[in-house]
Amino acid sequence: MYKLLFNTVLRRLDPEFAHLLASSVIKALPLADAALRPFLRPHKNLRTVALGREFTTPFGLAAGFDKNATQITGLGLLGFGHVEIGTLTMHAQPGNPKPRLFRLVKDSALINRMGFNNSGSAAAVSHITKAKIRPNRPVIGVNIGKSKITPLADAADDYVFSATLLTPFADYLVVNVSSPNTPGLRELQQLNTLAKLVRRVQSAAGTTPVLLKIAPDLSDTHIEQIVTLALDAQLRGIIVTNTTVARDNLSTADAKISAIGAGGLSGKPLATKALQVLRRVRAAVPTESDFTIIAAGGVSSAQDVLERLAAGAHLVQGYSGFIYNGPLWAHKINRELVKLGYRGNAA
Ligand SMILES: Cc1cc2nc3c(=O)[nH]c(=O)nc-3n(C[C@H](O)[C@H](O)[C@H](O)COP(=O)(O)O)c2cc1C
Repeated sequence: MYKLLFNTVLRRLDPEFAHLLASSVIKALPLADAALRPFLRPHKNLRTVALGREFTTPFGLAAGFDKNATQITGLGLLGFGHVEIGTLTMHAQPGNPKPRLFRLVKDSALINRMGFNNSGSAAAVSHITKAKIRPNRPVIGVNIGKSKITPLADAADDYVFSATLLTPFADYLVVNVSSPNTPGLRELQQLNTLAKLVRRVQSAAGTTPVLLKIAPDLSDTHIEQIVTLALDAQLRGIIVTNTTVARDNLSTADAKISAIGAGGLSGKPLATKALQVLRRVRAAVPTESDFTIIAAGGVSSAQDVLERLAAGAHLVQGYSGFIYNGPLWAHKINRELVKLGYRGNAA
């Protein structure tokens, strides 16, 4: 049904307009909570404990869909066990000029150069607060990044501002140093800079778990060094991965890809690479450690979720699959996980 709607109507709409339309519907969903919840609630077999929280399912929504935290309740209702809001920055900012979001339908992929369009950390507080007091809410991750106007040398102050403000409302906090669309941001993955940054955020966050989100375009050595750094800084986990700047494994015509230009590629073509980085990270984390690994990148089915859990992830996230599979995507994945016999560690 959604596939038909997508192929006949949605794919003809400007991707950002379609996102706006979907967001308005998701915001209104809590009005139908009583009717929808019994049908959409994840099966109890999927209950999973991680980061000191109980998740209704290991599957959640990756950062970037609900940048301003206005859709948390509706997204939870649709079956996501956690919703990672943001990326939020210290200063509200419009993001890059449009167009900045592109569908590669043949590849079930997206290219985006949104550039952290968001209303700023302070504006998100009241939205998160409202979502937090709702019963049956999803776990809420808060992803923070650097404002475009903040010079790279002052990046840590920008992150610490957001961390200090948002920590009281976050179930976990994510330091995003891996989006390709803020000039210089990924340079923060350099070890010296990163060590100082995460220590400052960690101390601002107090007891709230802090995780780091990394790019898929790092060398194996760099990945291992980042994991060591995260363990040394006593971060609680890592998210692998953000979008890639590579353009590998695509069926879409080269001319179309070049016309789109810069941006991060997500969706199915990212799957193999993201899985490789996940395996690399898993191998670098001592087995006895309670460091939480969240896998993202190219997940579209319950089998993909299981593959990542088997590769060592504790939780799994998706974004692009939501665009291609529609509003019942998380529900279908949850149902399929149960059918495939998966049991969460708290079931
Ligand atoms: C349109 C779009 C916007 C995104 N914005 C963010 C963001 O603000 N912060 C972030 O950490 N990741 C962002 N991401 C990356 C996703 O969270 C995720 O890591 C990536 O898309 C890989 O997962 P997927 O293949 O399931 O989409 C964005 C992705 C897309 C497609």
